[in-house]
Amino acid sequence: MDRIRIEGGCRLNGEIPISGAKNAALPLMIAALLSDETLTLRNLPRLADVALLSRILGNHGVDMAVDGKRPGQNGVQGDTVHYTARTIVDTTAPYEFVSRMRASFWVLGPLLARCGEARVSLPGGCAIGTRPVDLHLEGLAKLGADIALEDGYVVASAAKGLVGAHIDFAKVSVGATHNVLMAAVLARGETVLENAACEPEVRDVADCLVKMGARIEGAGTPTIRIQGVDRLHGATHCVLPDRIETGTYAMAVAMTGGEVELIGARADLLQTALDVIGAAGVEITPTNRGIKVARNGARIGPVNVSTAPFPGFPTDLQAQLMALMTTAGGTSEITETIFENRFMHVQELARLGADIALDGDKAVVTGVNTLKGAQVMATDLRASVSLVIAGLVAEGETVINRVYHLDRGFERIERKLGDCGAQIERLSA
Ligand code: EPZ
Repeated sequence: MDRIRIEGGCRLNGEIPISGAKNAALPLMIAALLSDETLTLRNLPRLADVALLSRILGNHGVDMAVDGKRPGQNGVQGDTVHYTARTIVDTTAPYEFVSRMRASFWVLGPLLARCGEARVSLPGGCAIGTRPVDLHLEGLAKLGADIALEDGYVVASAAKGLVGAHIDFAKVSVGATHNVLMAAVLARGETVLENAACEPEVRDVADCLVKMGARIEGAGTPTIRIQGVDRLHGATHCVLPDRIETGTYAMAVAMTGGEVELIGARADLLQTALDVIGAAGVEITPTNRGIKVARNGARIGPVNVSTAPFPGFPTDLQAQLMALMTTAGGTSEITETIFENRFMHVQELARLGADIALDGDKAVVTGVNTLKGAQVMATDLRASVSLVIAGLVAEGETVINRVYHLDRGFERIERKLGDCGAQIERLSA
C-alpha cells in the first residue's frame, strides 16, 4: 500500500491547478444513465472514485470513450470522456461496487426512471457516520416507486413509470437531492423538492440535465421545480472546479505561509470557508485566473466554526481547518453538525503533537507552537488530507499510511504541493 512521506518546514509558493469537482463529477457521470445518447463530460478529475464509477457504469452497459491525451498532459483541464448508455444491460448495482463507493447508490433513481426497475445494494456503514438512505427511498416512493429491501438490496420498481410529486425532505441531503432529482426529470408531470440541498454540485448536475433537455428551475435553492419530460438527449458539460480541493490548498498555504495562486478556483463556491481562513489572518484575493492565498509572517489566529449545509462551512473542510488550528495562537472551537463520527483525524493529529479535546460534536483545539513529524494513518478522504496539511509544518518526517483514501479525492496531490516547494513524495509499496 502506498504511503506519503513529508519533510515539514517548507513554505508554499507558486501555482496549483484546481481539478474538476469529484462530488459533481460522480453524479454527472451517473446522469449519463438517463439518456440513450452521448453525454460528454469535460474537466473530469483523474481520481480513483471516477475510475471505480466508470467500472460500475460499464456494468450497467454504459460505453465510455476517453478523448486522446497522454496522462499528465495539460494539467489544468481534466479528462474529456464520452458516456453513451444506448442500452441498459443490467439494472443491478452489486454490493462489491456500492460498498466501495457510497455515491454509486445514486444510480438507483436514474435506473428506475429509465428502466422502471433497479436493484441496488445498500451502501452500508461508513467511517464518518451511519449515513442512512431513508430520505432517498422516501423521495423515490413519493414518485410512485414500489420499494422493498431484500438481502441487503433495495429493489425498486415502477412498471407504469414514475409520477411527479411534492417532496419535502426532512433533512438536507446532497445524495437524496441528486437521486430524486435525476429520477424526477423523467417522471410524468411536476415534482417539487423542498428543503433540497443547495450545494453547487447539485446546481451543476441540474445545469447538465437542462442541457440534456430536462426542465428544472430553482436548483441551488431549497426549492427545486421539475417538469418531467419523456426523454433526455445528449449534451456536453464541463465539471465545475472542486471547492473542497480549493479550500484544502488554501488551508495548506495558510498553514505553511507563502503565496500560492489557485488556478481555476472560484471564490463564490466556498465564500464561507474563505471568510473563515481570512478571519484567521490569511490574505485571500480573487485574480483573473482564480484565487491568490498568502500568509507572510503573522501567526494564524483561532476561529470558532460550525459545519453546515451550503452555503455554510462545509463538513468536507472540517478536518483541514482543524489541522490549521493546531498551530494557531489561541483556542478554537470546531463543531461538526453533519456527520456524527467525523473526528477520526483527531487522534492522528494528536500523534503529531496537536492539543485537541473532544466534547460530543465539538472539538476544542488549543494551538501549540510546533508539531512534530510521526507515522500516522489515513482514515477517510478528508481526514487523510488534514494529516498532509499538518505534516507540511511538522518538524522532521511525517509518513501517512493508507494513502488510497487520498487518491479517491485528490488528483496528484504530491505533485501539486511538490511544485510549490513542499518536500513530499509517494512511497510505493
Ligand atoms: C455528500 O455525501 C458528499 N459526497 C460528502 O462528501 C459530503 O460530506 C456530504 O454530501 C455533505 O456535504 C458526495 O457528494 C459524493 P448527505 P452524502 O446525504 O450525499 C443524513 C467527501 O469527502 N442523511 O448530504 O452521502 C446523513 O447521515 C464526501 O467527498 C440521512 O439521515 O451526504 C448526514 O448526517 C464524504 N438520511 C446528512 O444527512 C439519508 O437518506 C447529510 O448527508 C441521507 C442522508
